[in-house]
Amino acid sequence: TRVRIIGAPTDYGANRRGVDMGPSAIRYGGLADELASAGVDVVDAGDLTVPRAEERDPDTDAPAEGDAKFLHEVADVCRRLADETEETLAEGAVPLALGGDHSIAIGSLVGAARDADVGAVWFDAHADLNTPSTTPSGNVHGMPLAAALGIGEFADTEWANARGLDPENVALVGLRSVDDAEVELLREHGFTAYTMSDIDERGITDVTEDALAAASAGVDGVHVSLDLDWLDPKEAPGVGTPVRGGVTYREAHSAMEIVDDADCLRSMELVEVNPTLDQHNETAELATELAASAFGKRVI
Ligand code: ARG
Ligand code: MN
Ligand code: MN
Ligand code: MN
Repeated sequence: TRVRIIGAPTDYGANRRGVDMGPSAIRYGGLADELASAGVDVVDAGDLTVPRAEERDPDTDAPAEGDAKFLHEVADVCRRLADETEETLAEGAVPLALGGDHSIAIGSLVGAARDADVGAVWFDAHADLNTPSTTPSGNVHGMPLAAALGIGEFADTEWANARGLDPENVALVGLRSVDDAEVELLREHGFTAYTMSDIDERGITDVTEDALAAASAGVDGVHVSLDLDWLDPKEAPGVGTPVRGGVTYREAHSAMEIVDDADCLRSMELVEVNPTLDQHNETAELATELAASAFGKRVI
């Protein structure tokens, strides 16, 4: 396997500044070595150029109705990430995007689903299905799945719609903070969704296997989106929107090992690592370890 790392140092989509330092922290946390120890050939494409949020006006040129801060800037980064993702796949490598906040998933998904039908597994405390009219925060990191699927005001947002992605092939795992409008969408659209209660009852192994089966059915490959707030804040303190009651260290590794076993991984991203909130870079290091498990690292 060949992996191409693409840094997307954004914080436009999150209200906690500092998540733009995620790509540096994850690299410093040993990503290349971890992936090499998984037997992967690693190429690092460096970071996309991202203008500082301080130089921008958060609201004025949002192209969609309602409140979506920095949507114009998110669009600019995601267009370029989509192109990089598409090129990486065309070269026969697996794109691994480093956030940055979760809004970058729009770019990953658009690029992955341009010339292929894809599924997605969303490992996250949140559903990220808000739209500019339902968002409680205005933060686009709460909207990337809705954007990629063309839901609500995103129906005609060309740059955001992932052509080859349908809700039937989207599985969310680890939900524990879902807004009312998102609950409606989860019921309406035929998503596969597993809460923390499902994991408590059925175990991480079963749930992750079923999530991957749903995501991969009838498509060319699966995008794995790993928001570090999926884990319990005790394991991953360096995130902007922590929610108690997340998966443990062992559950997270187990799930990533199952991703590797399923043999359908097409692209991946690691998002929401915020070094300013972290302790000794442990959340970034955890992200590198989990990526290695997803790419096949085993003890023996
Ligand atoms: N649902 C909340 C919102 O829309 C929180 C979203 C958090 N998303 C994330 N990628 N951390 O603002
Ligand atoms: Mn602007
Ligand atoms: Mn989240
Ligand atoms: Mn998220």
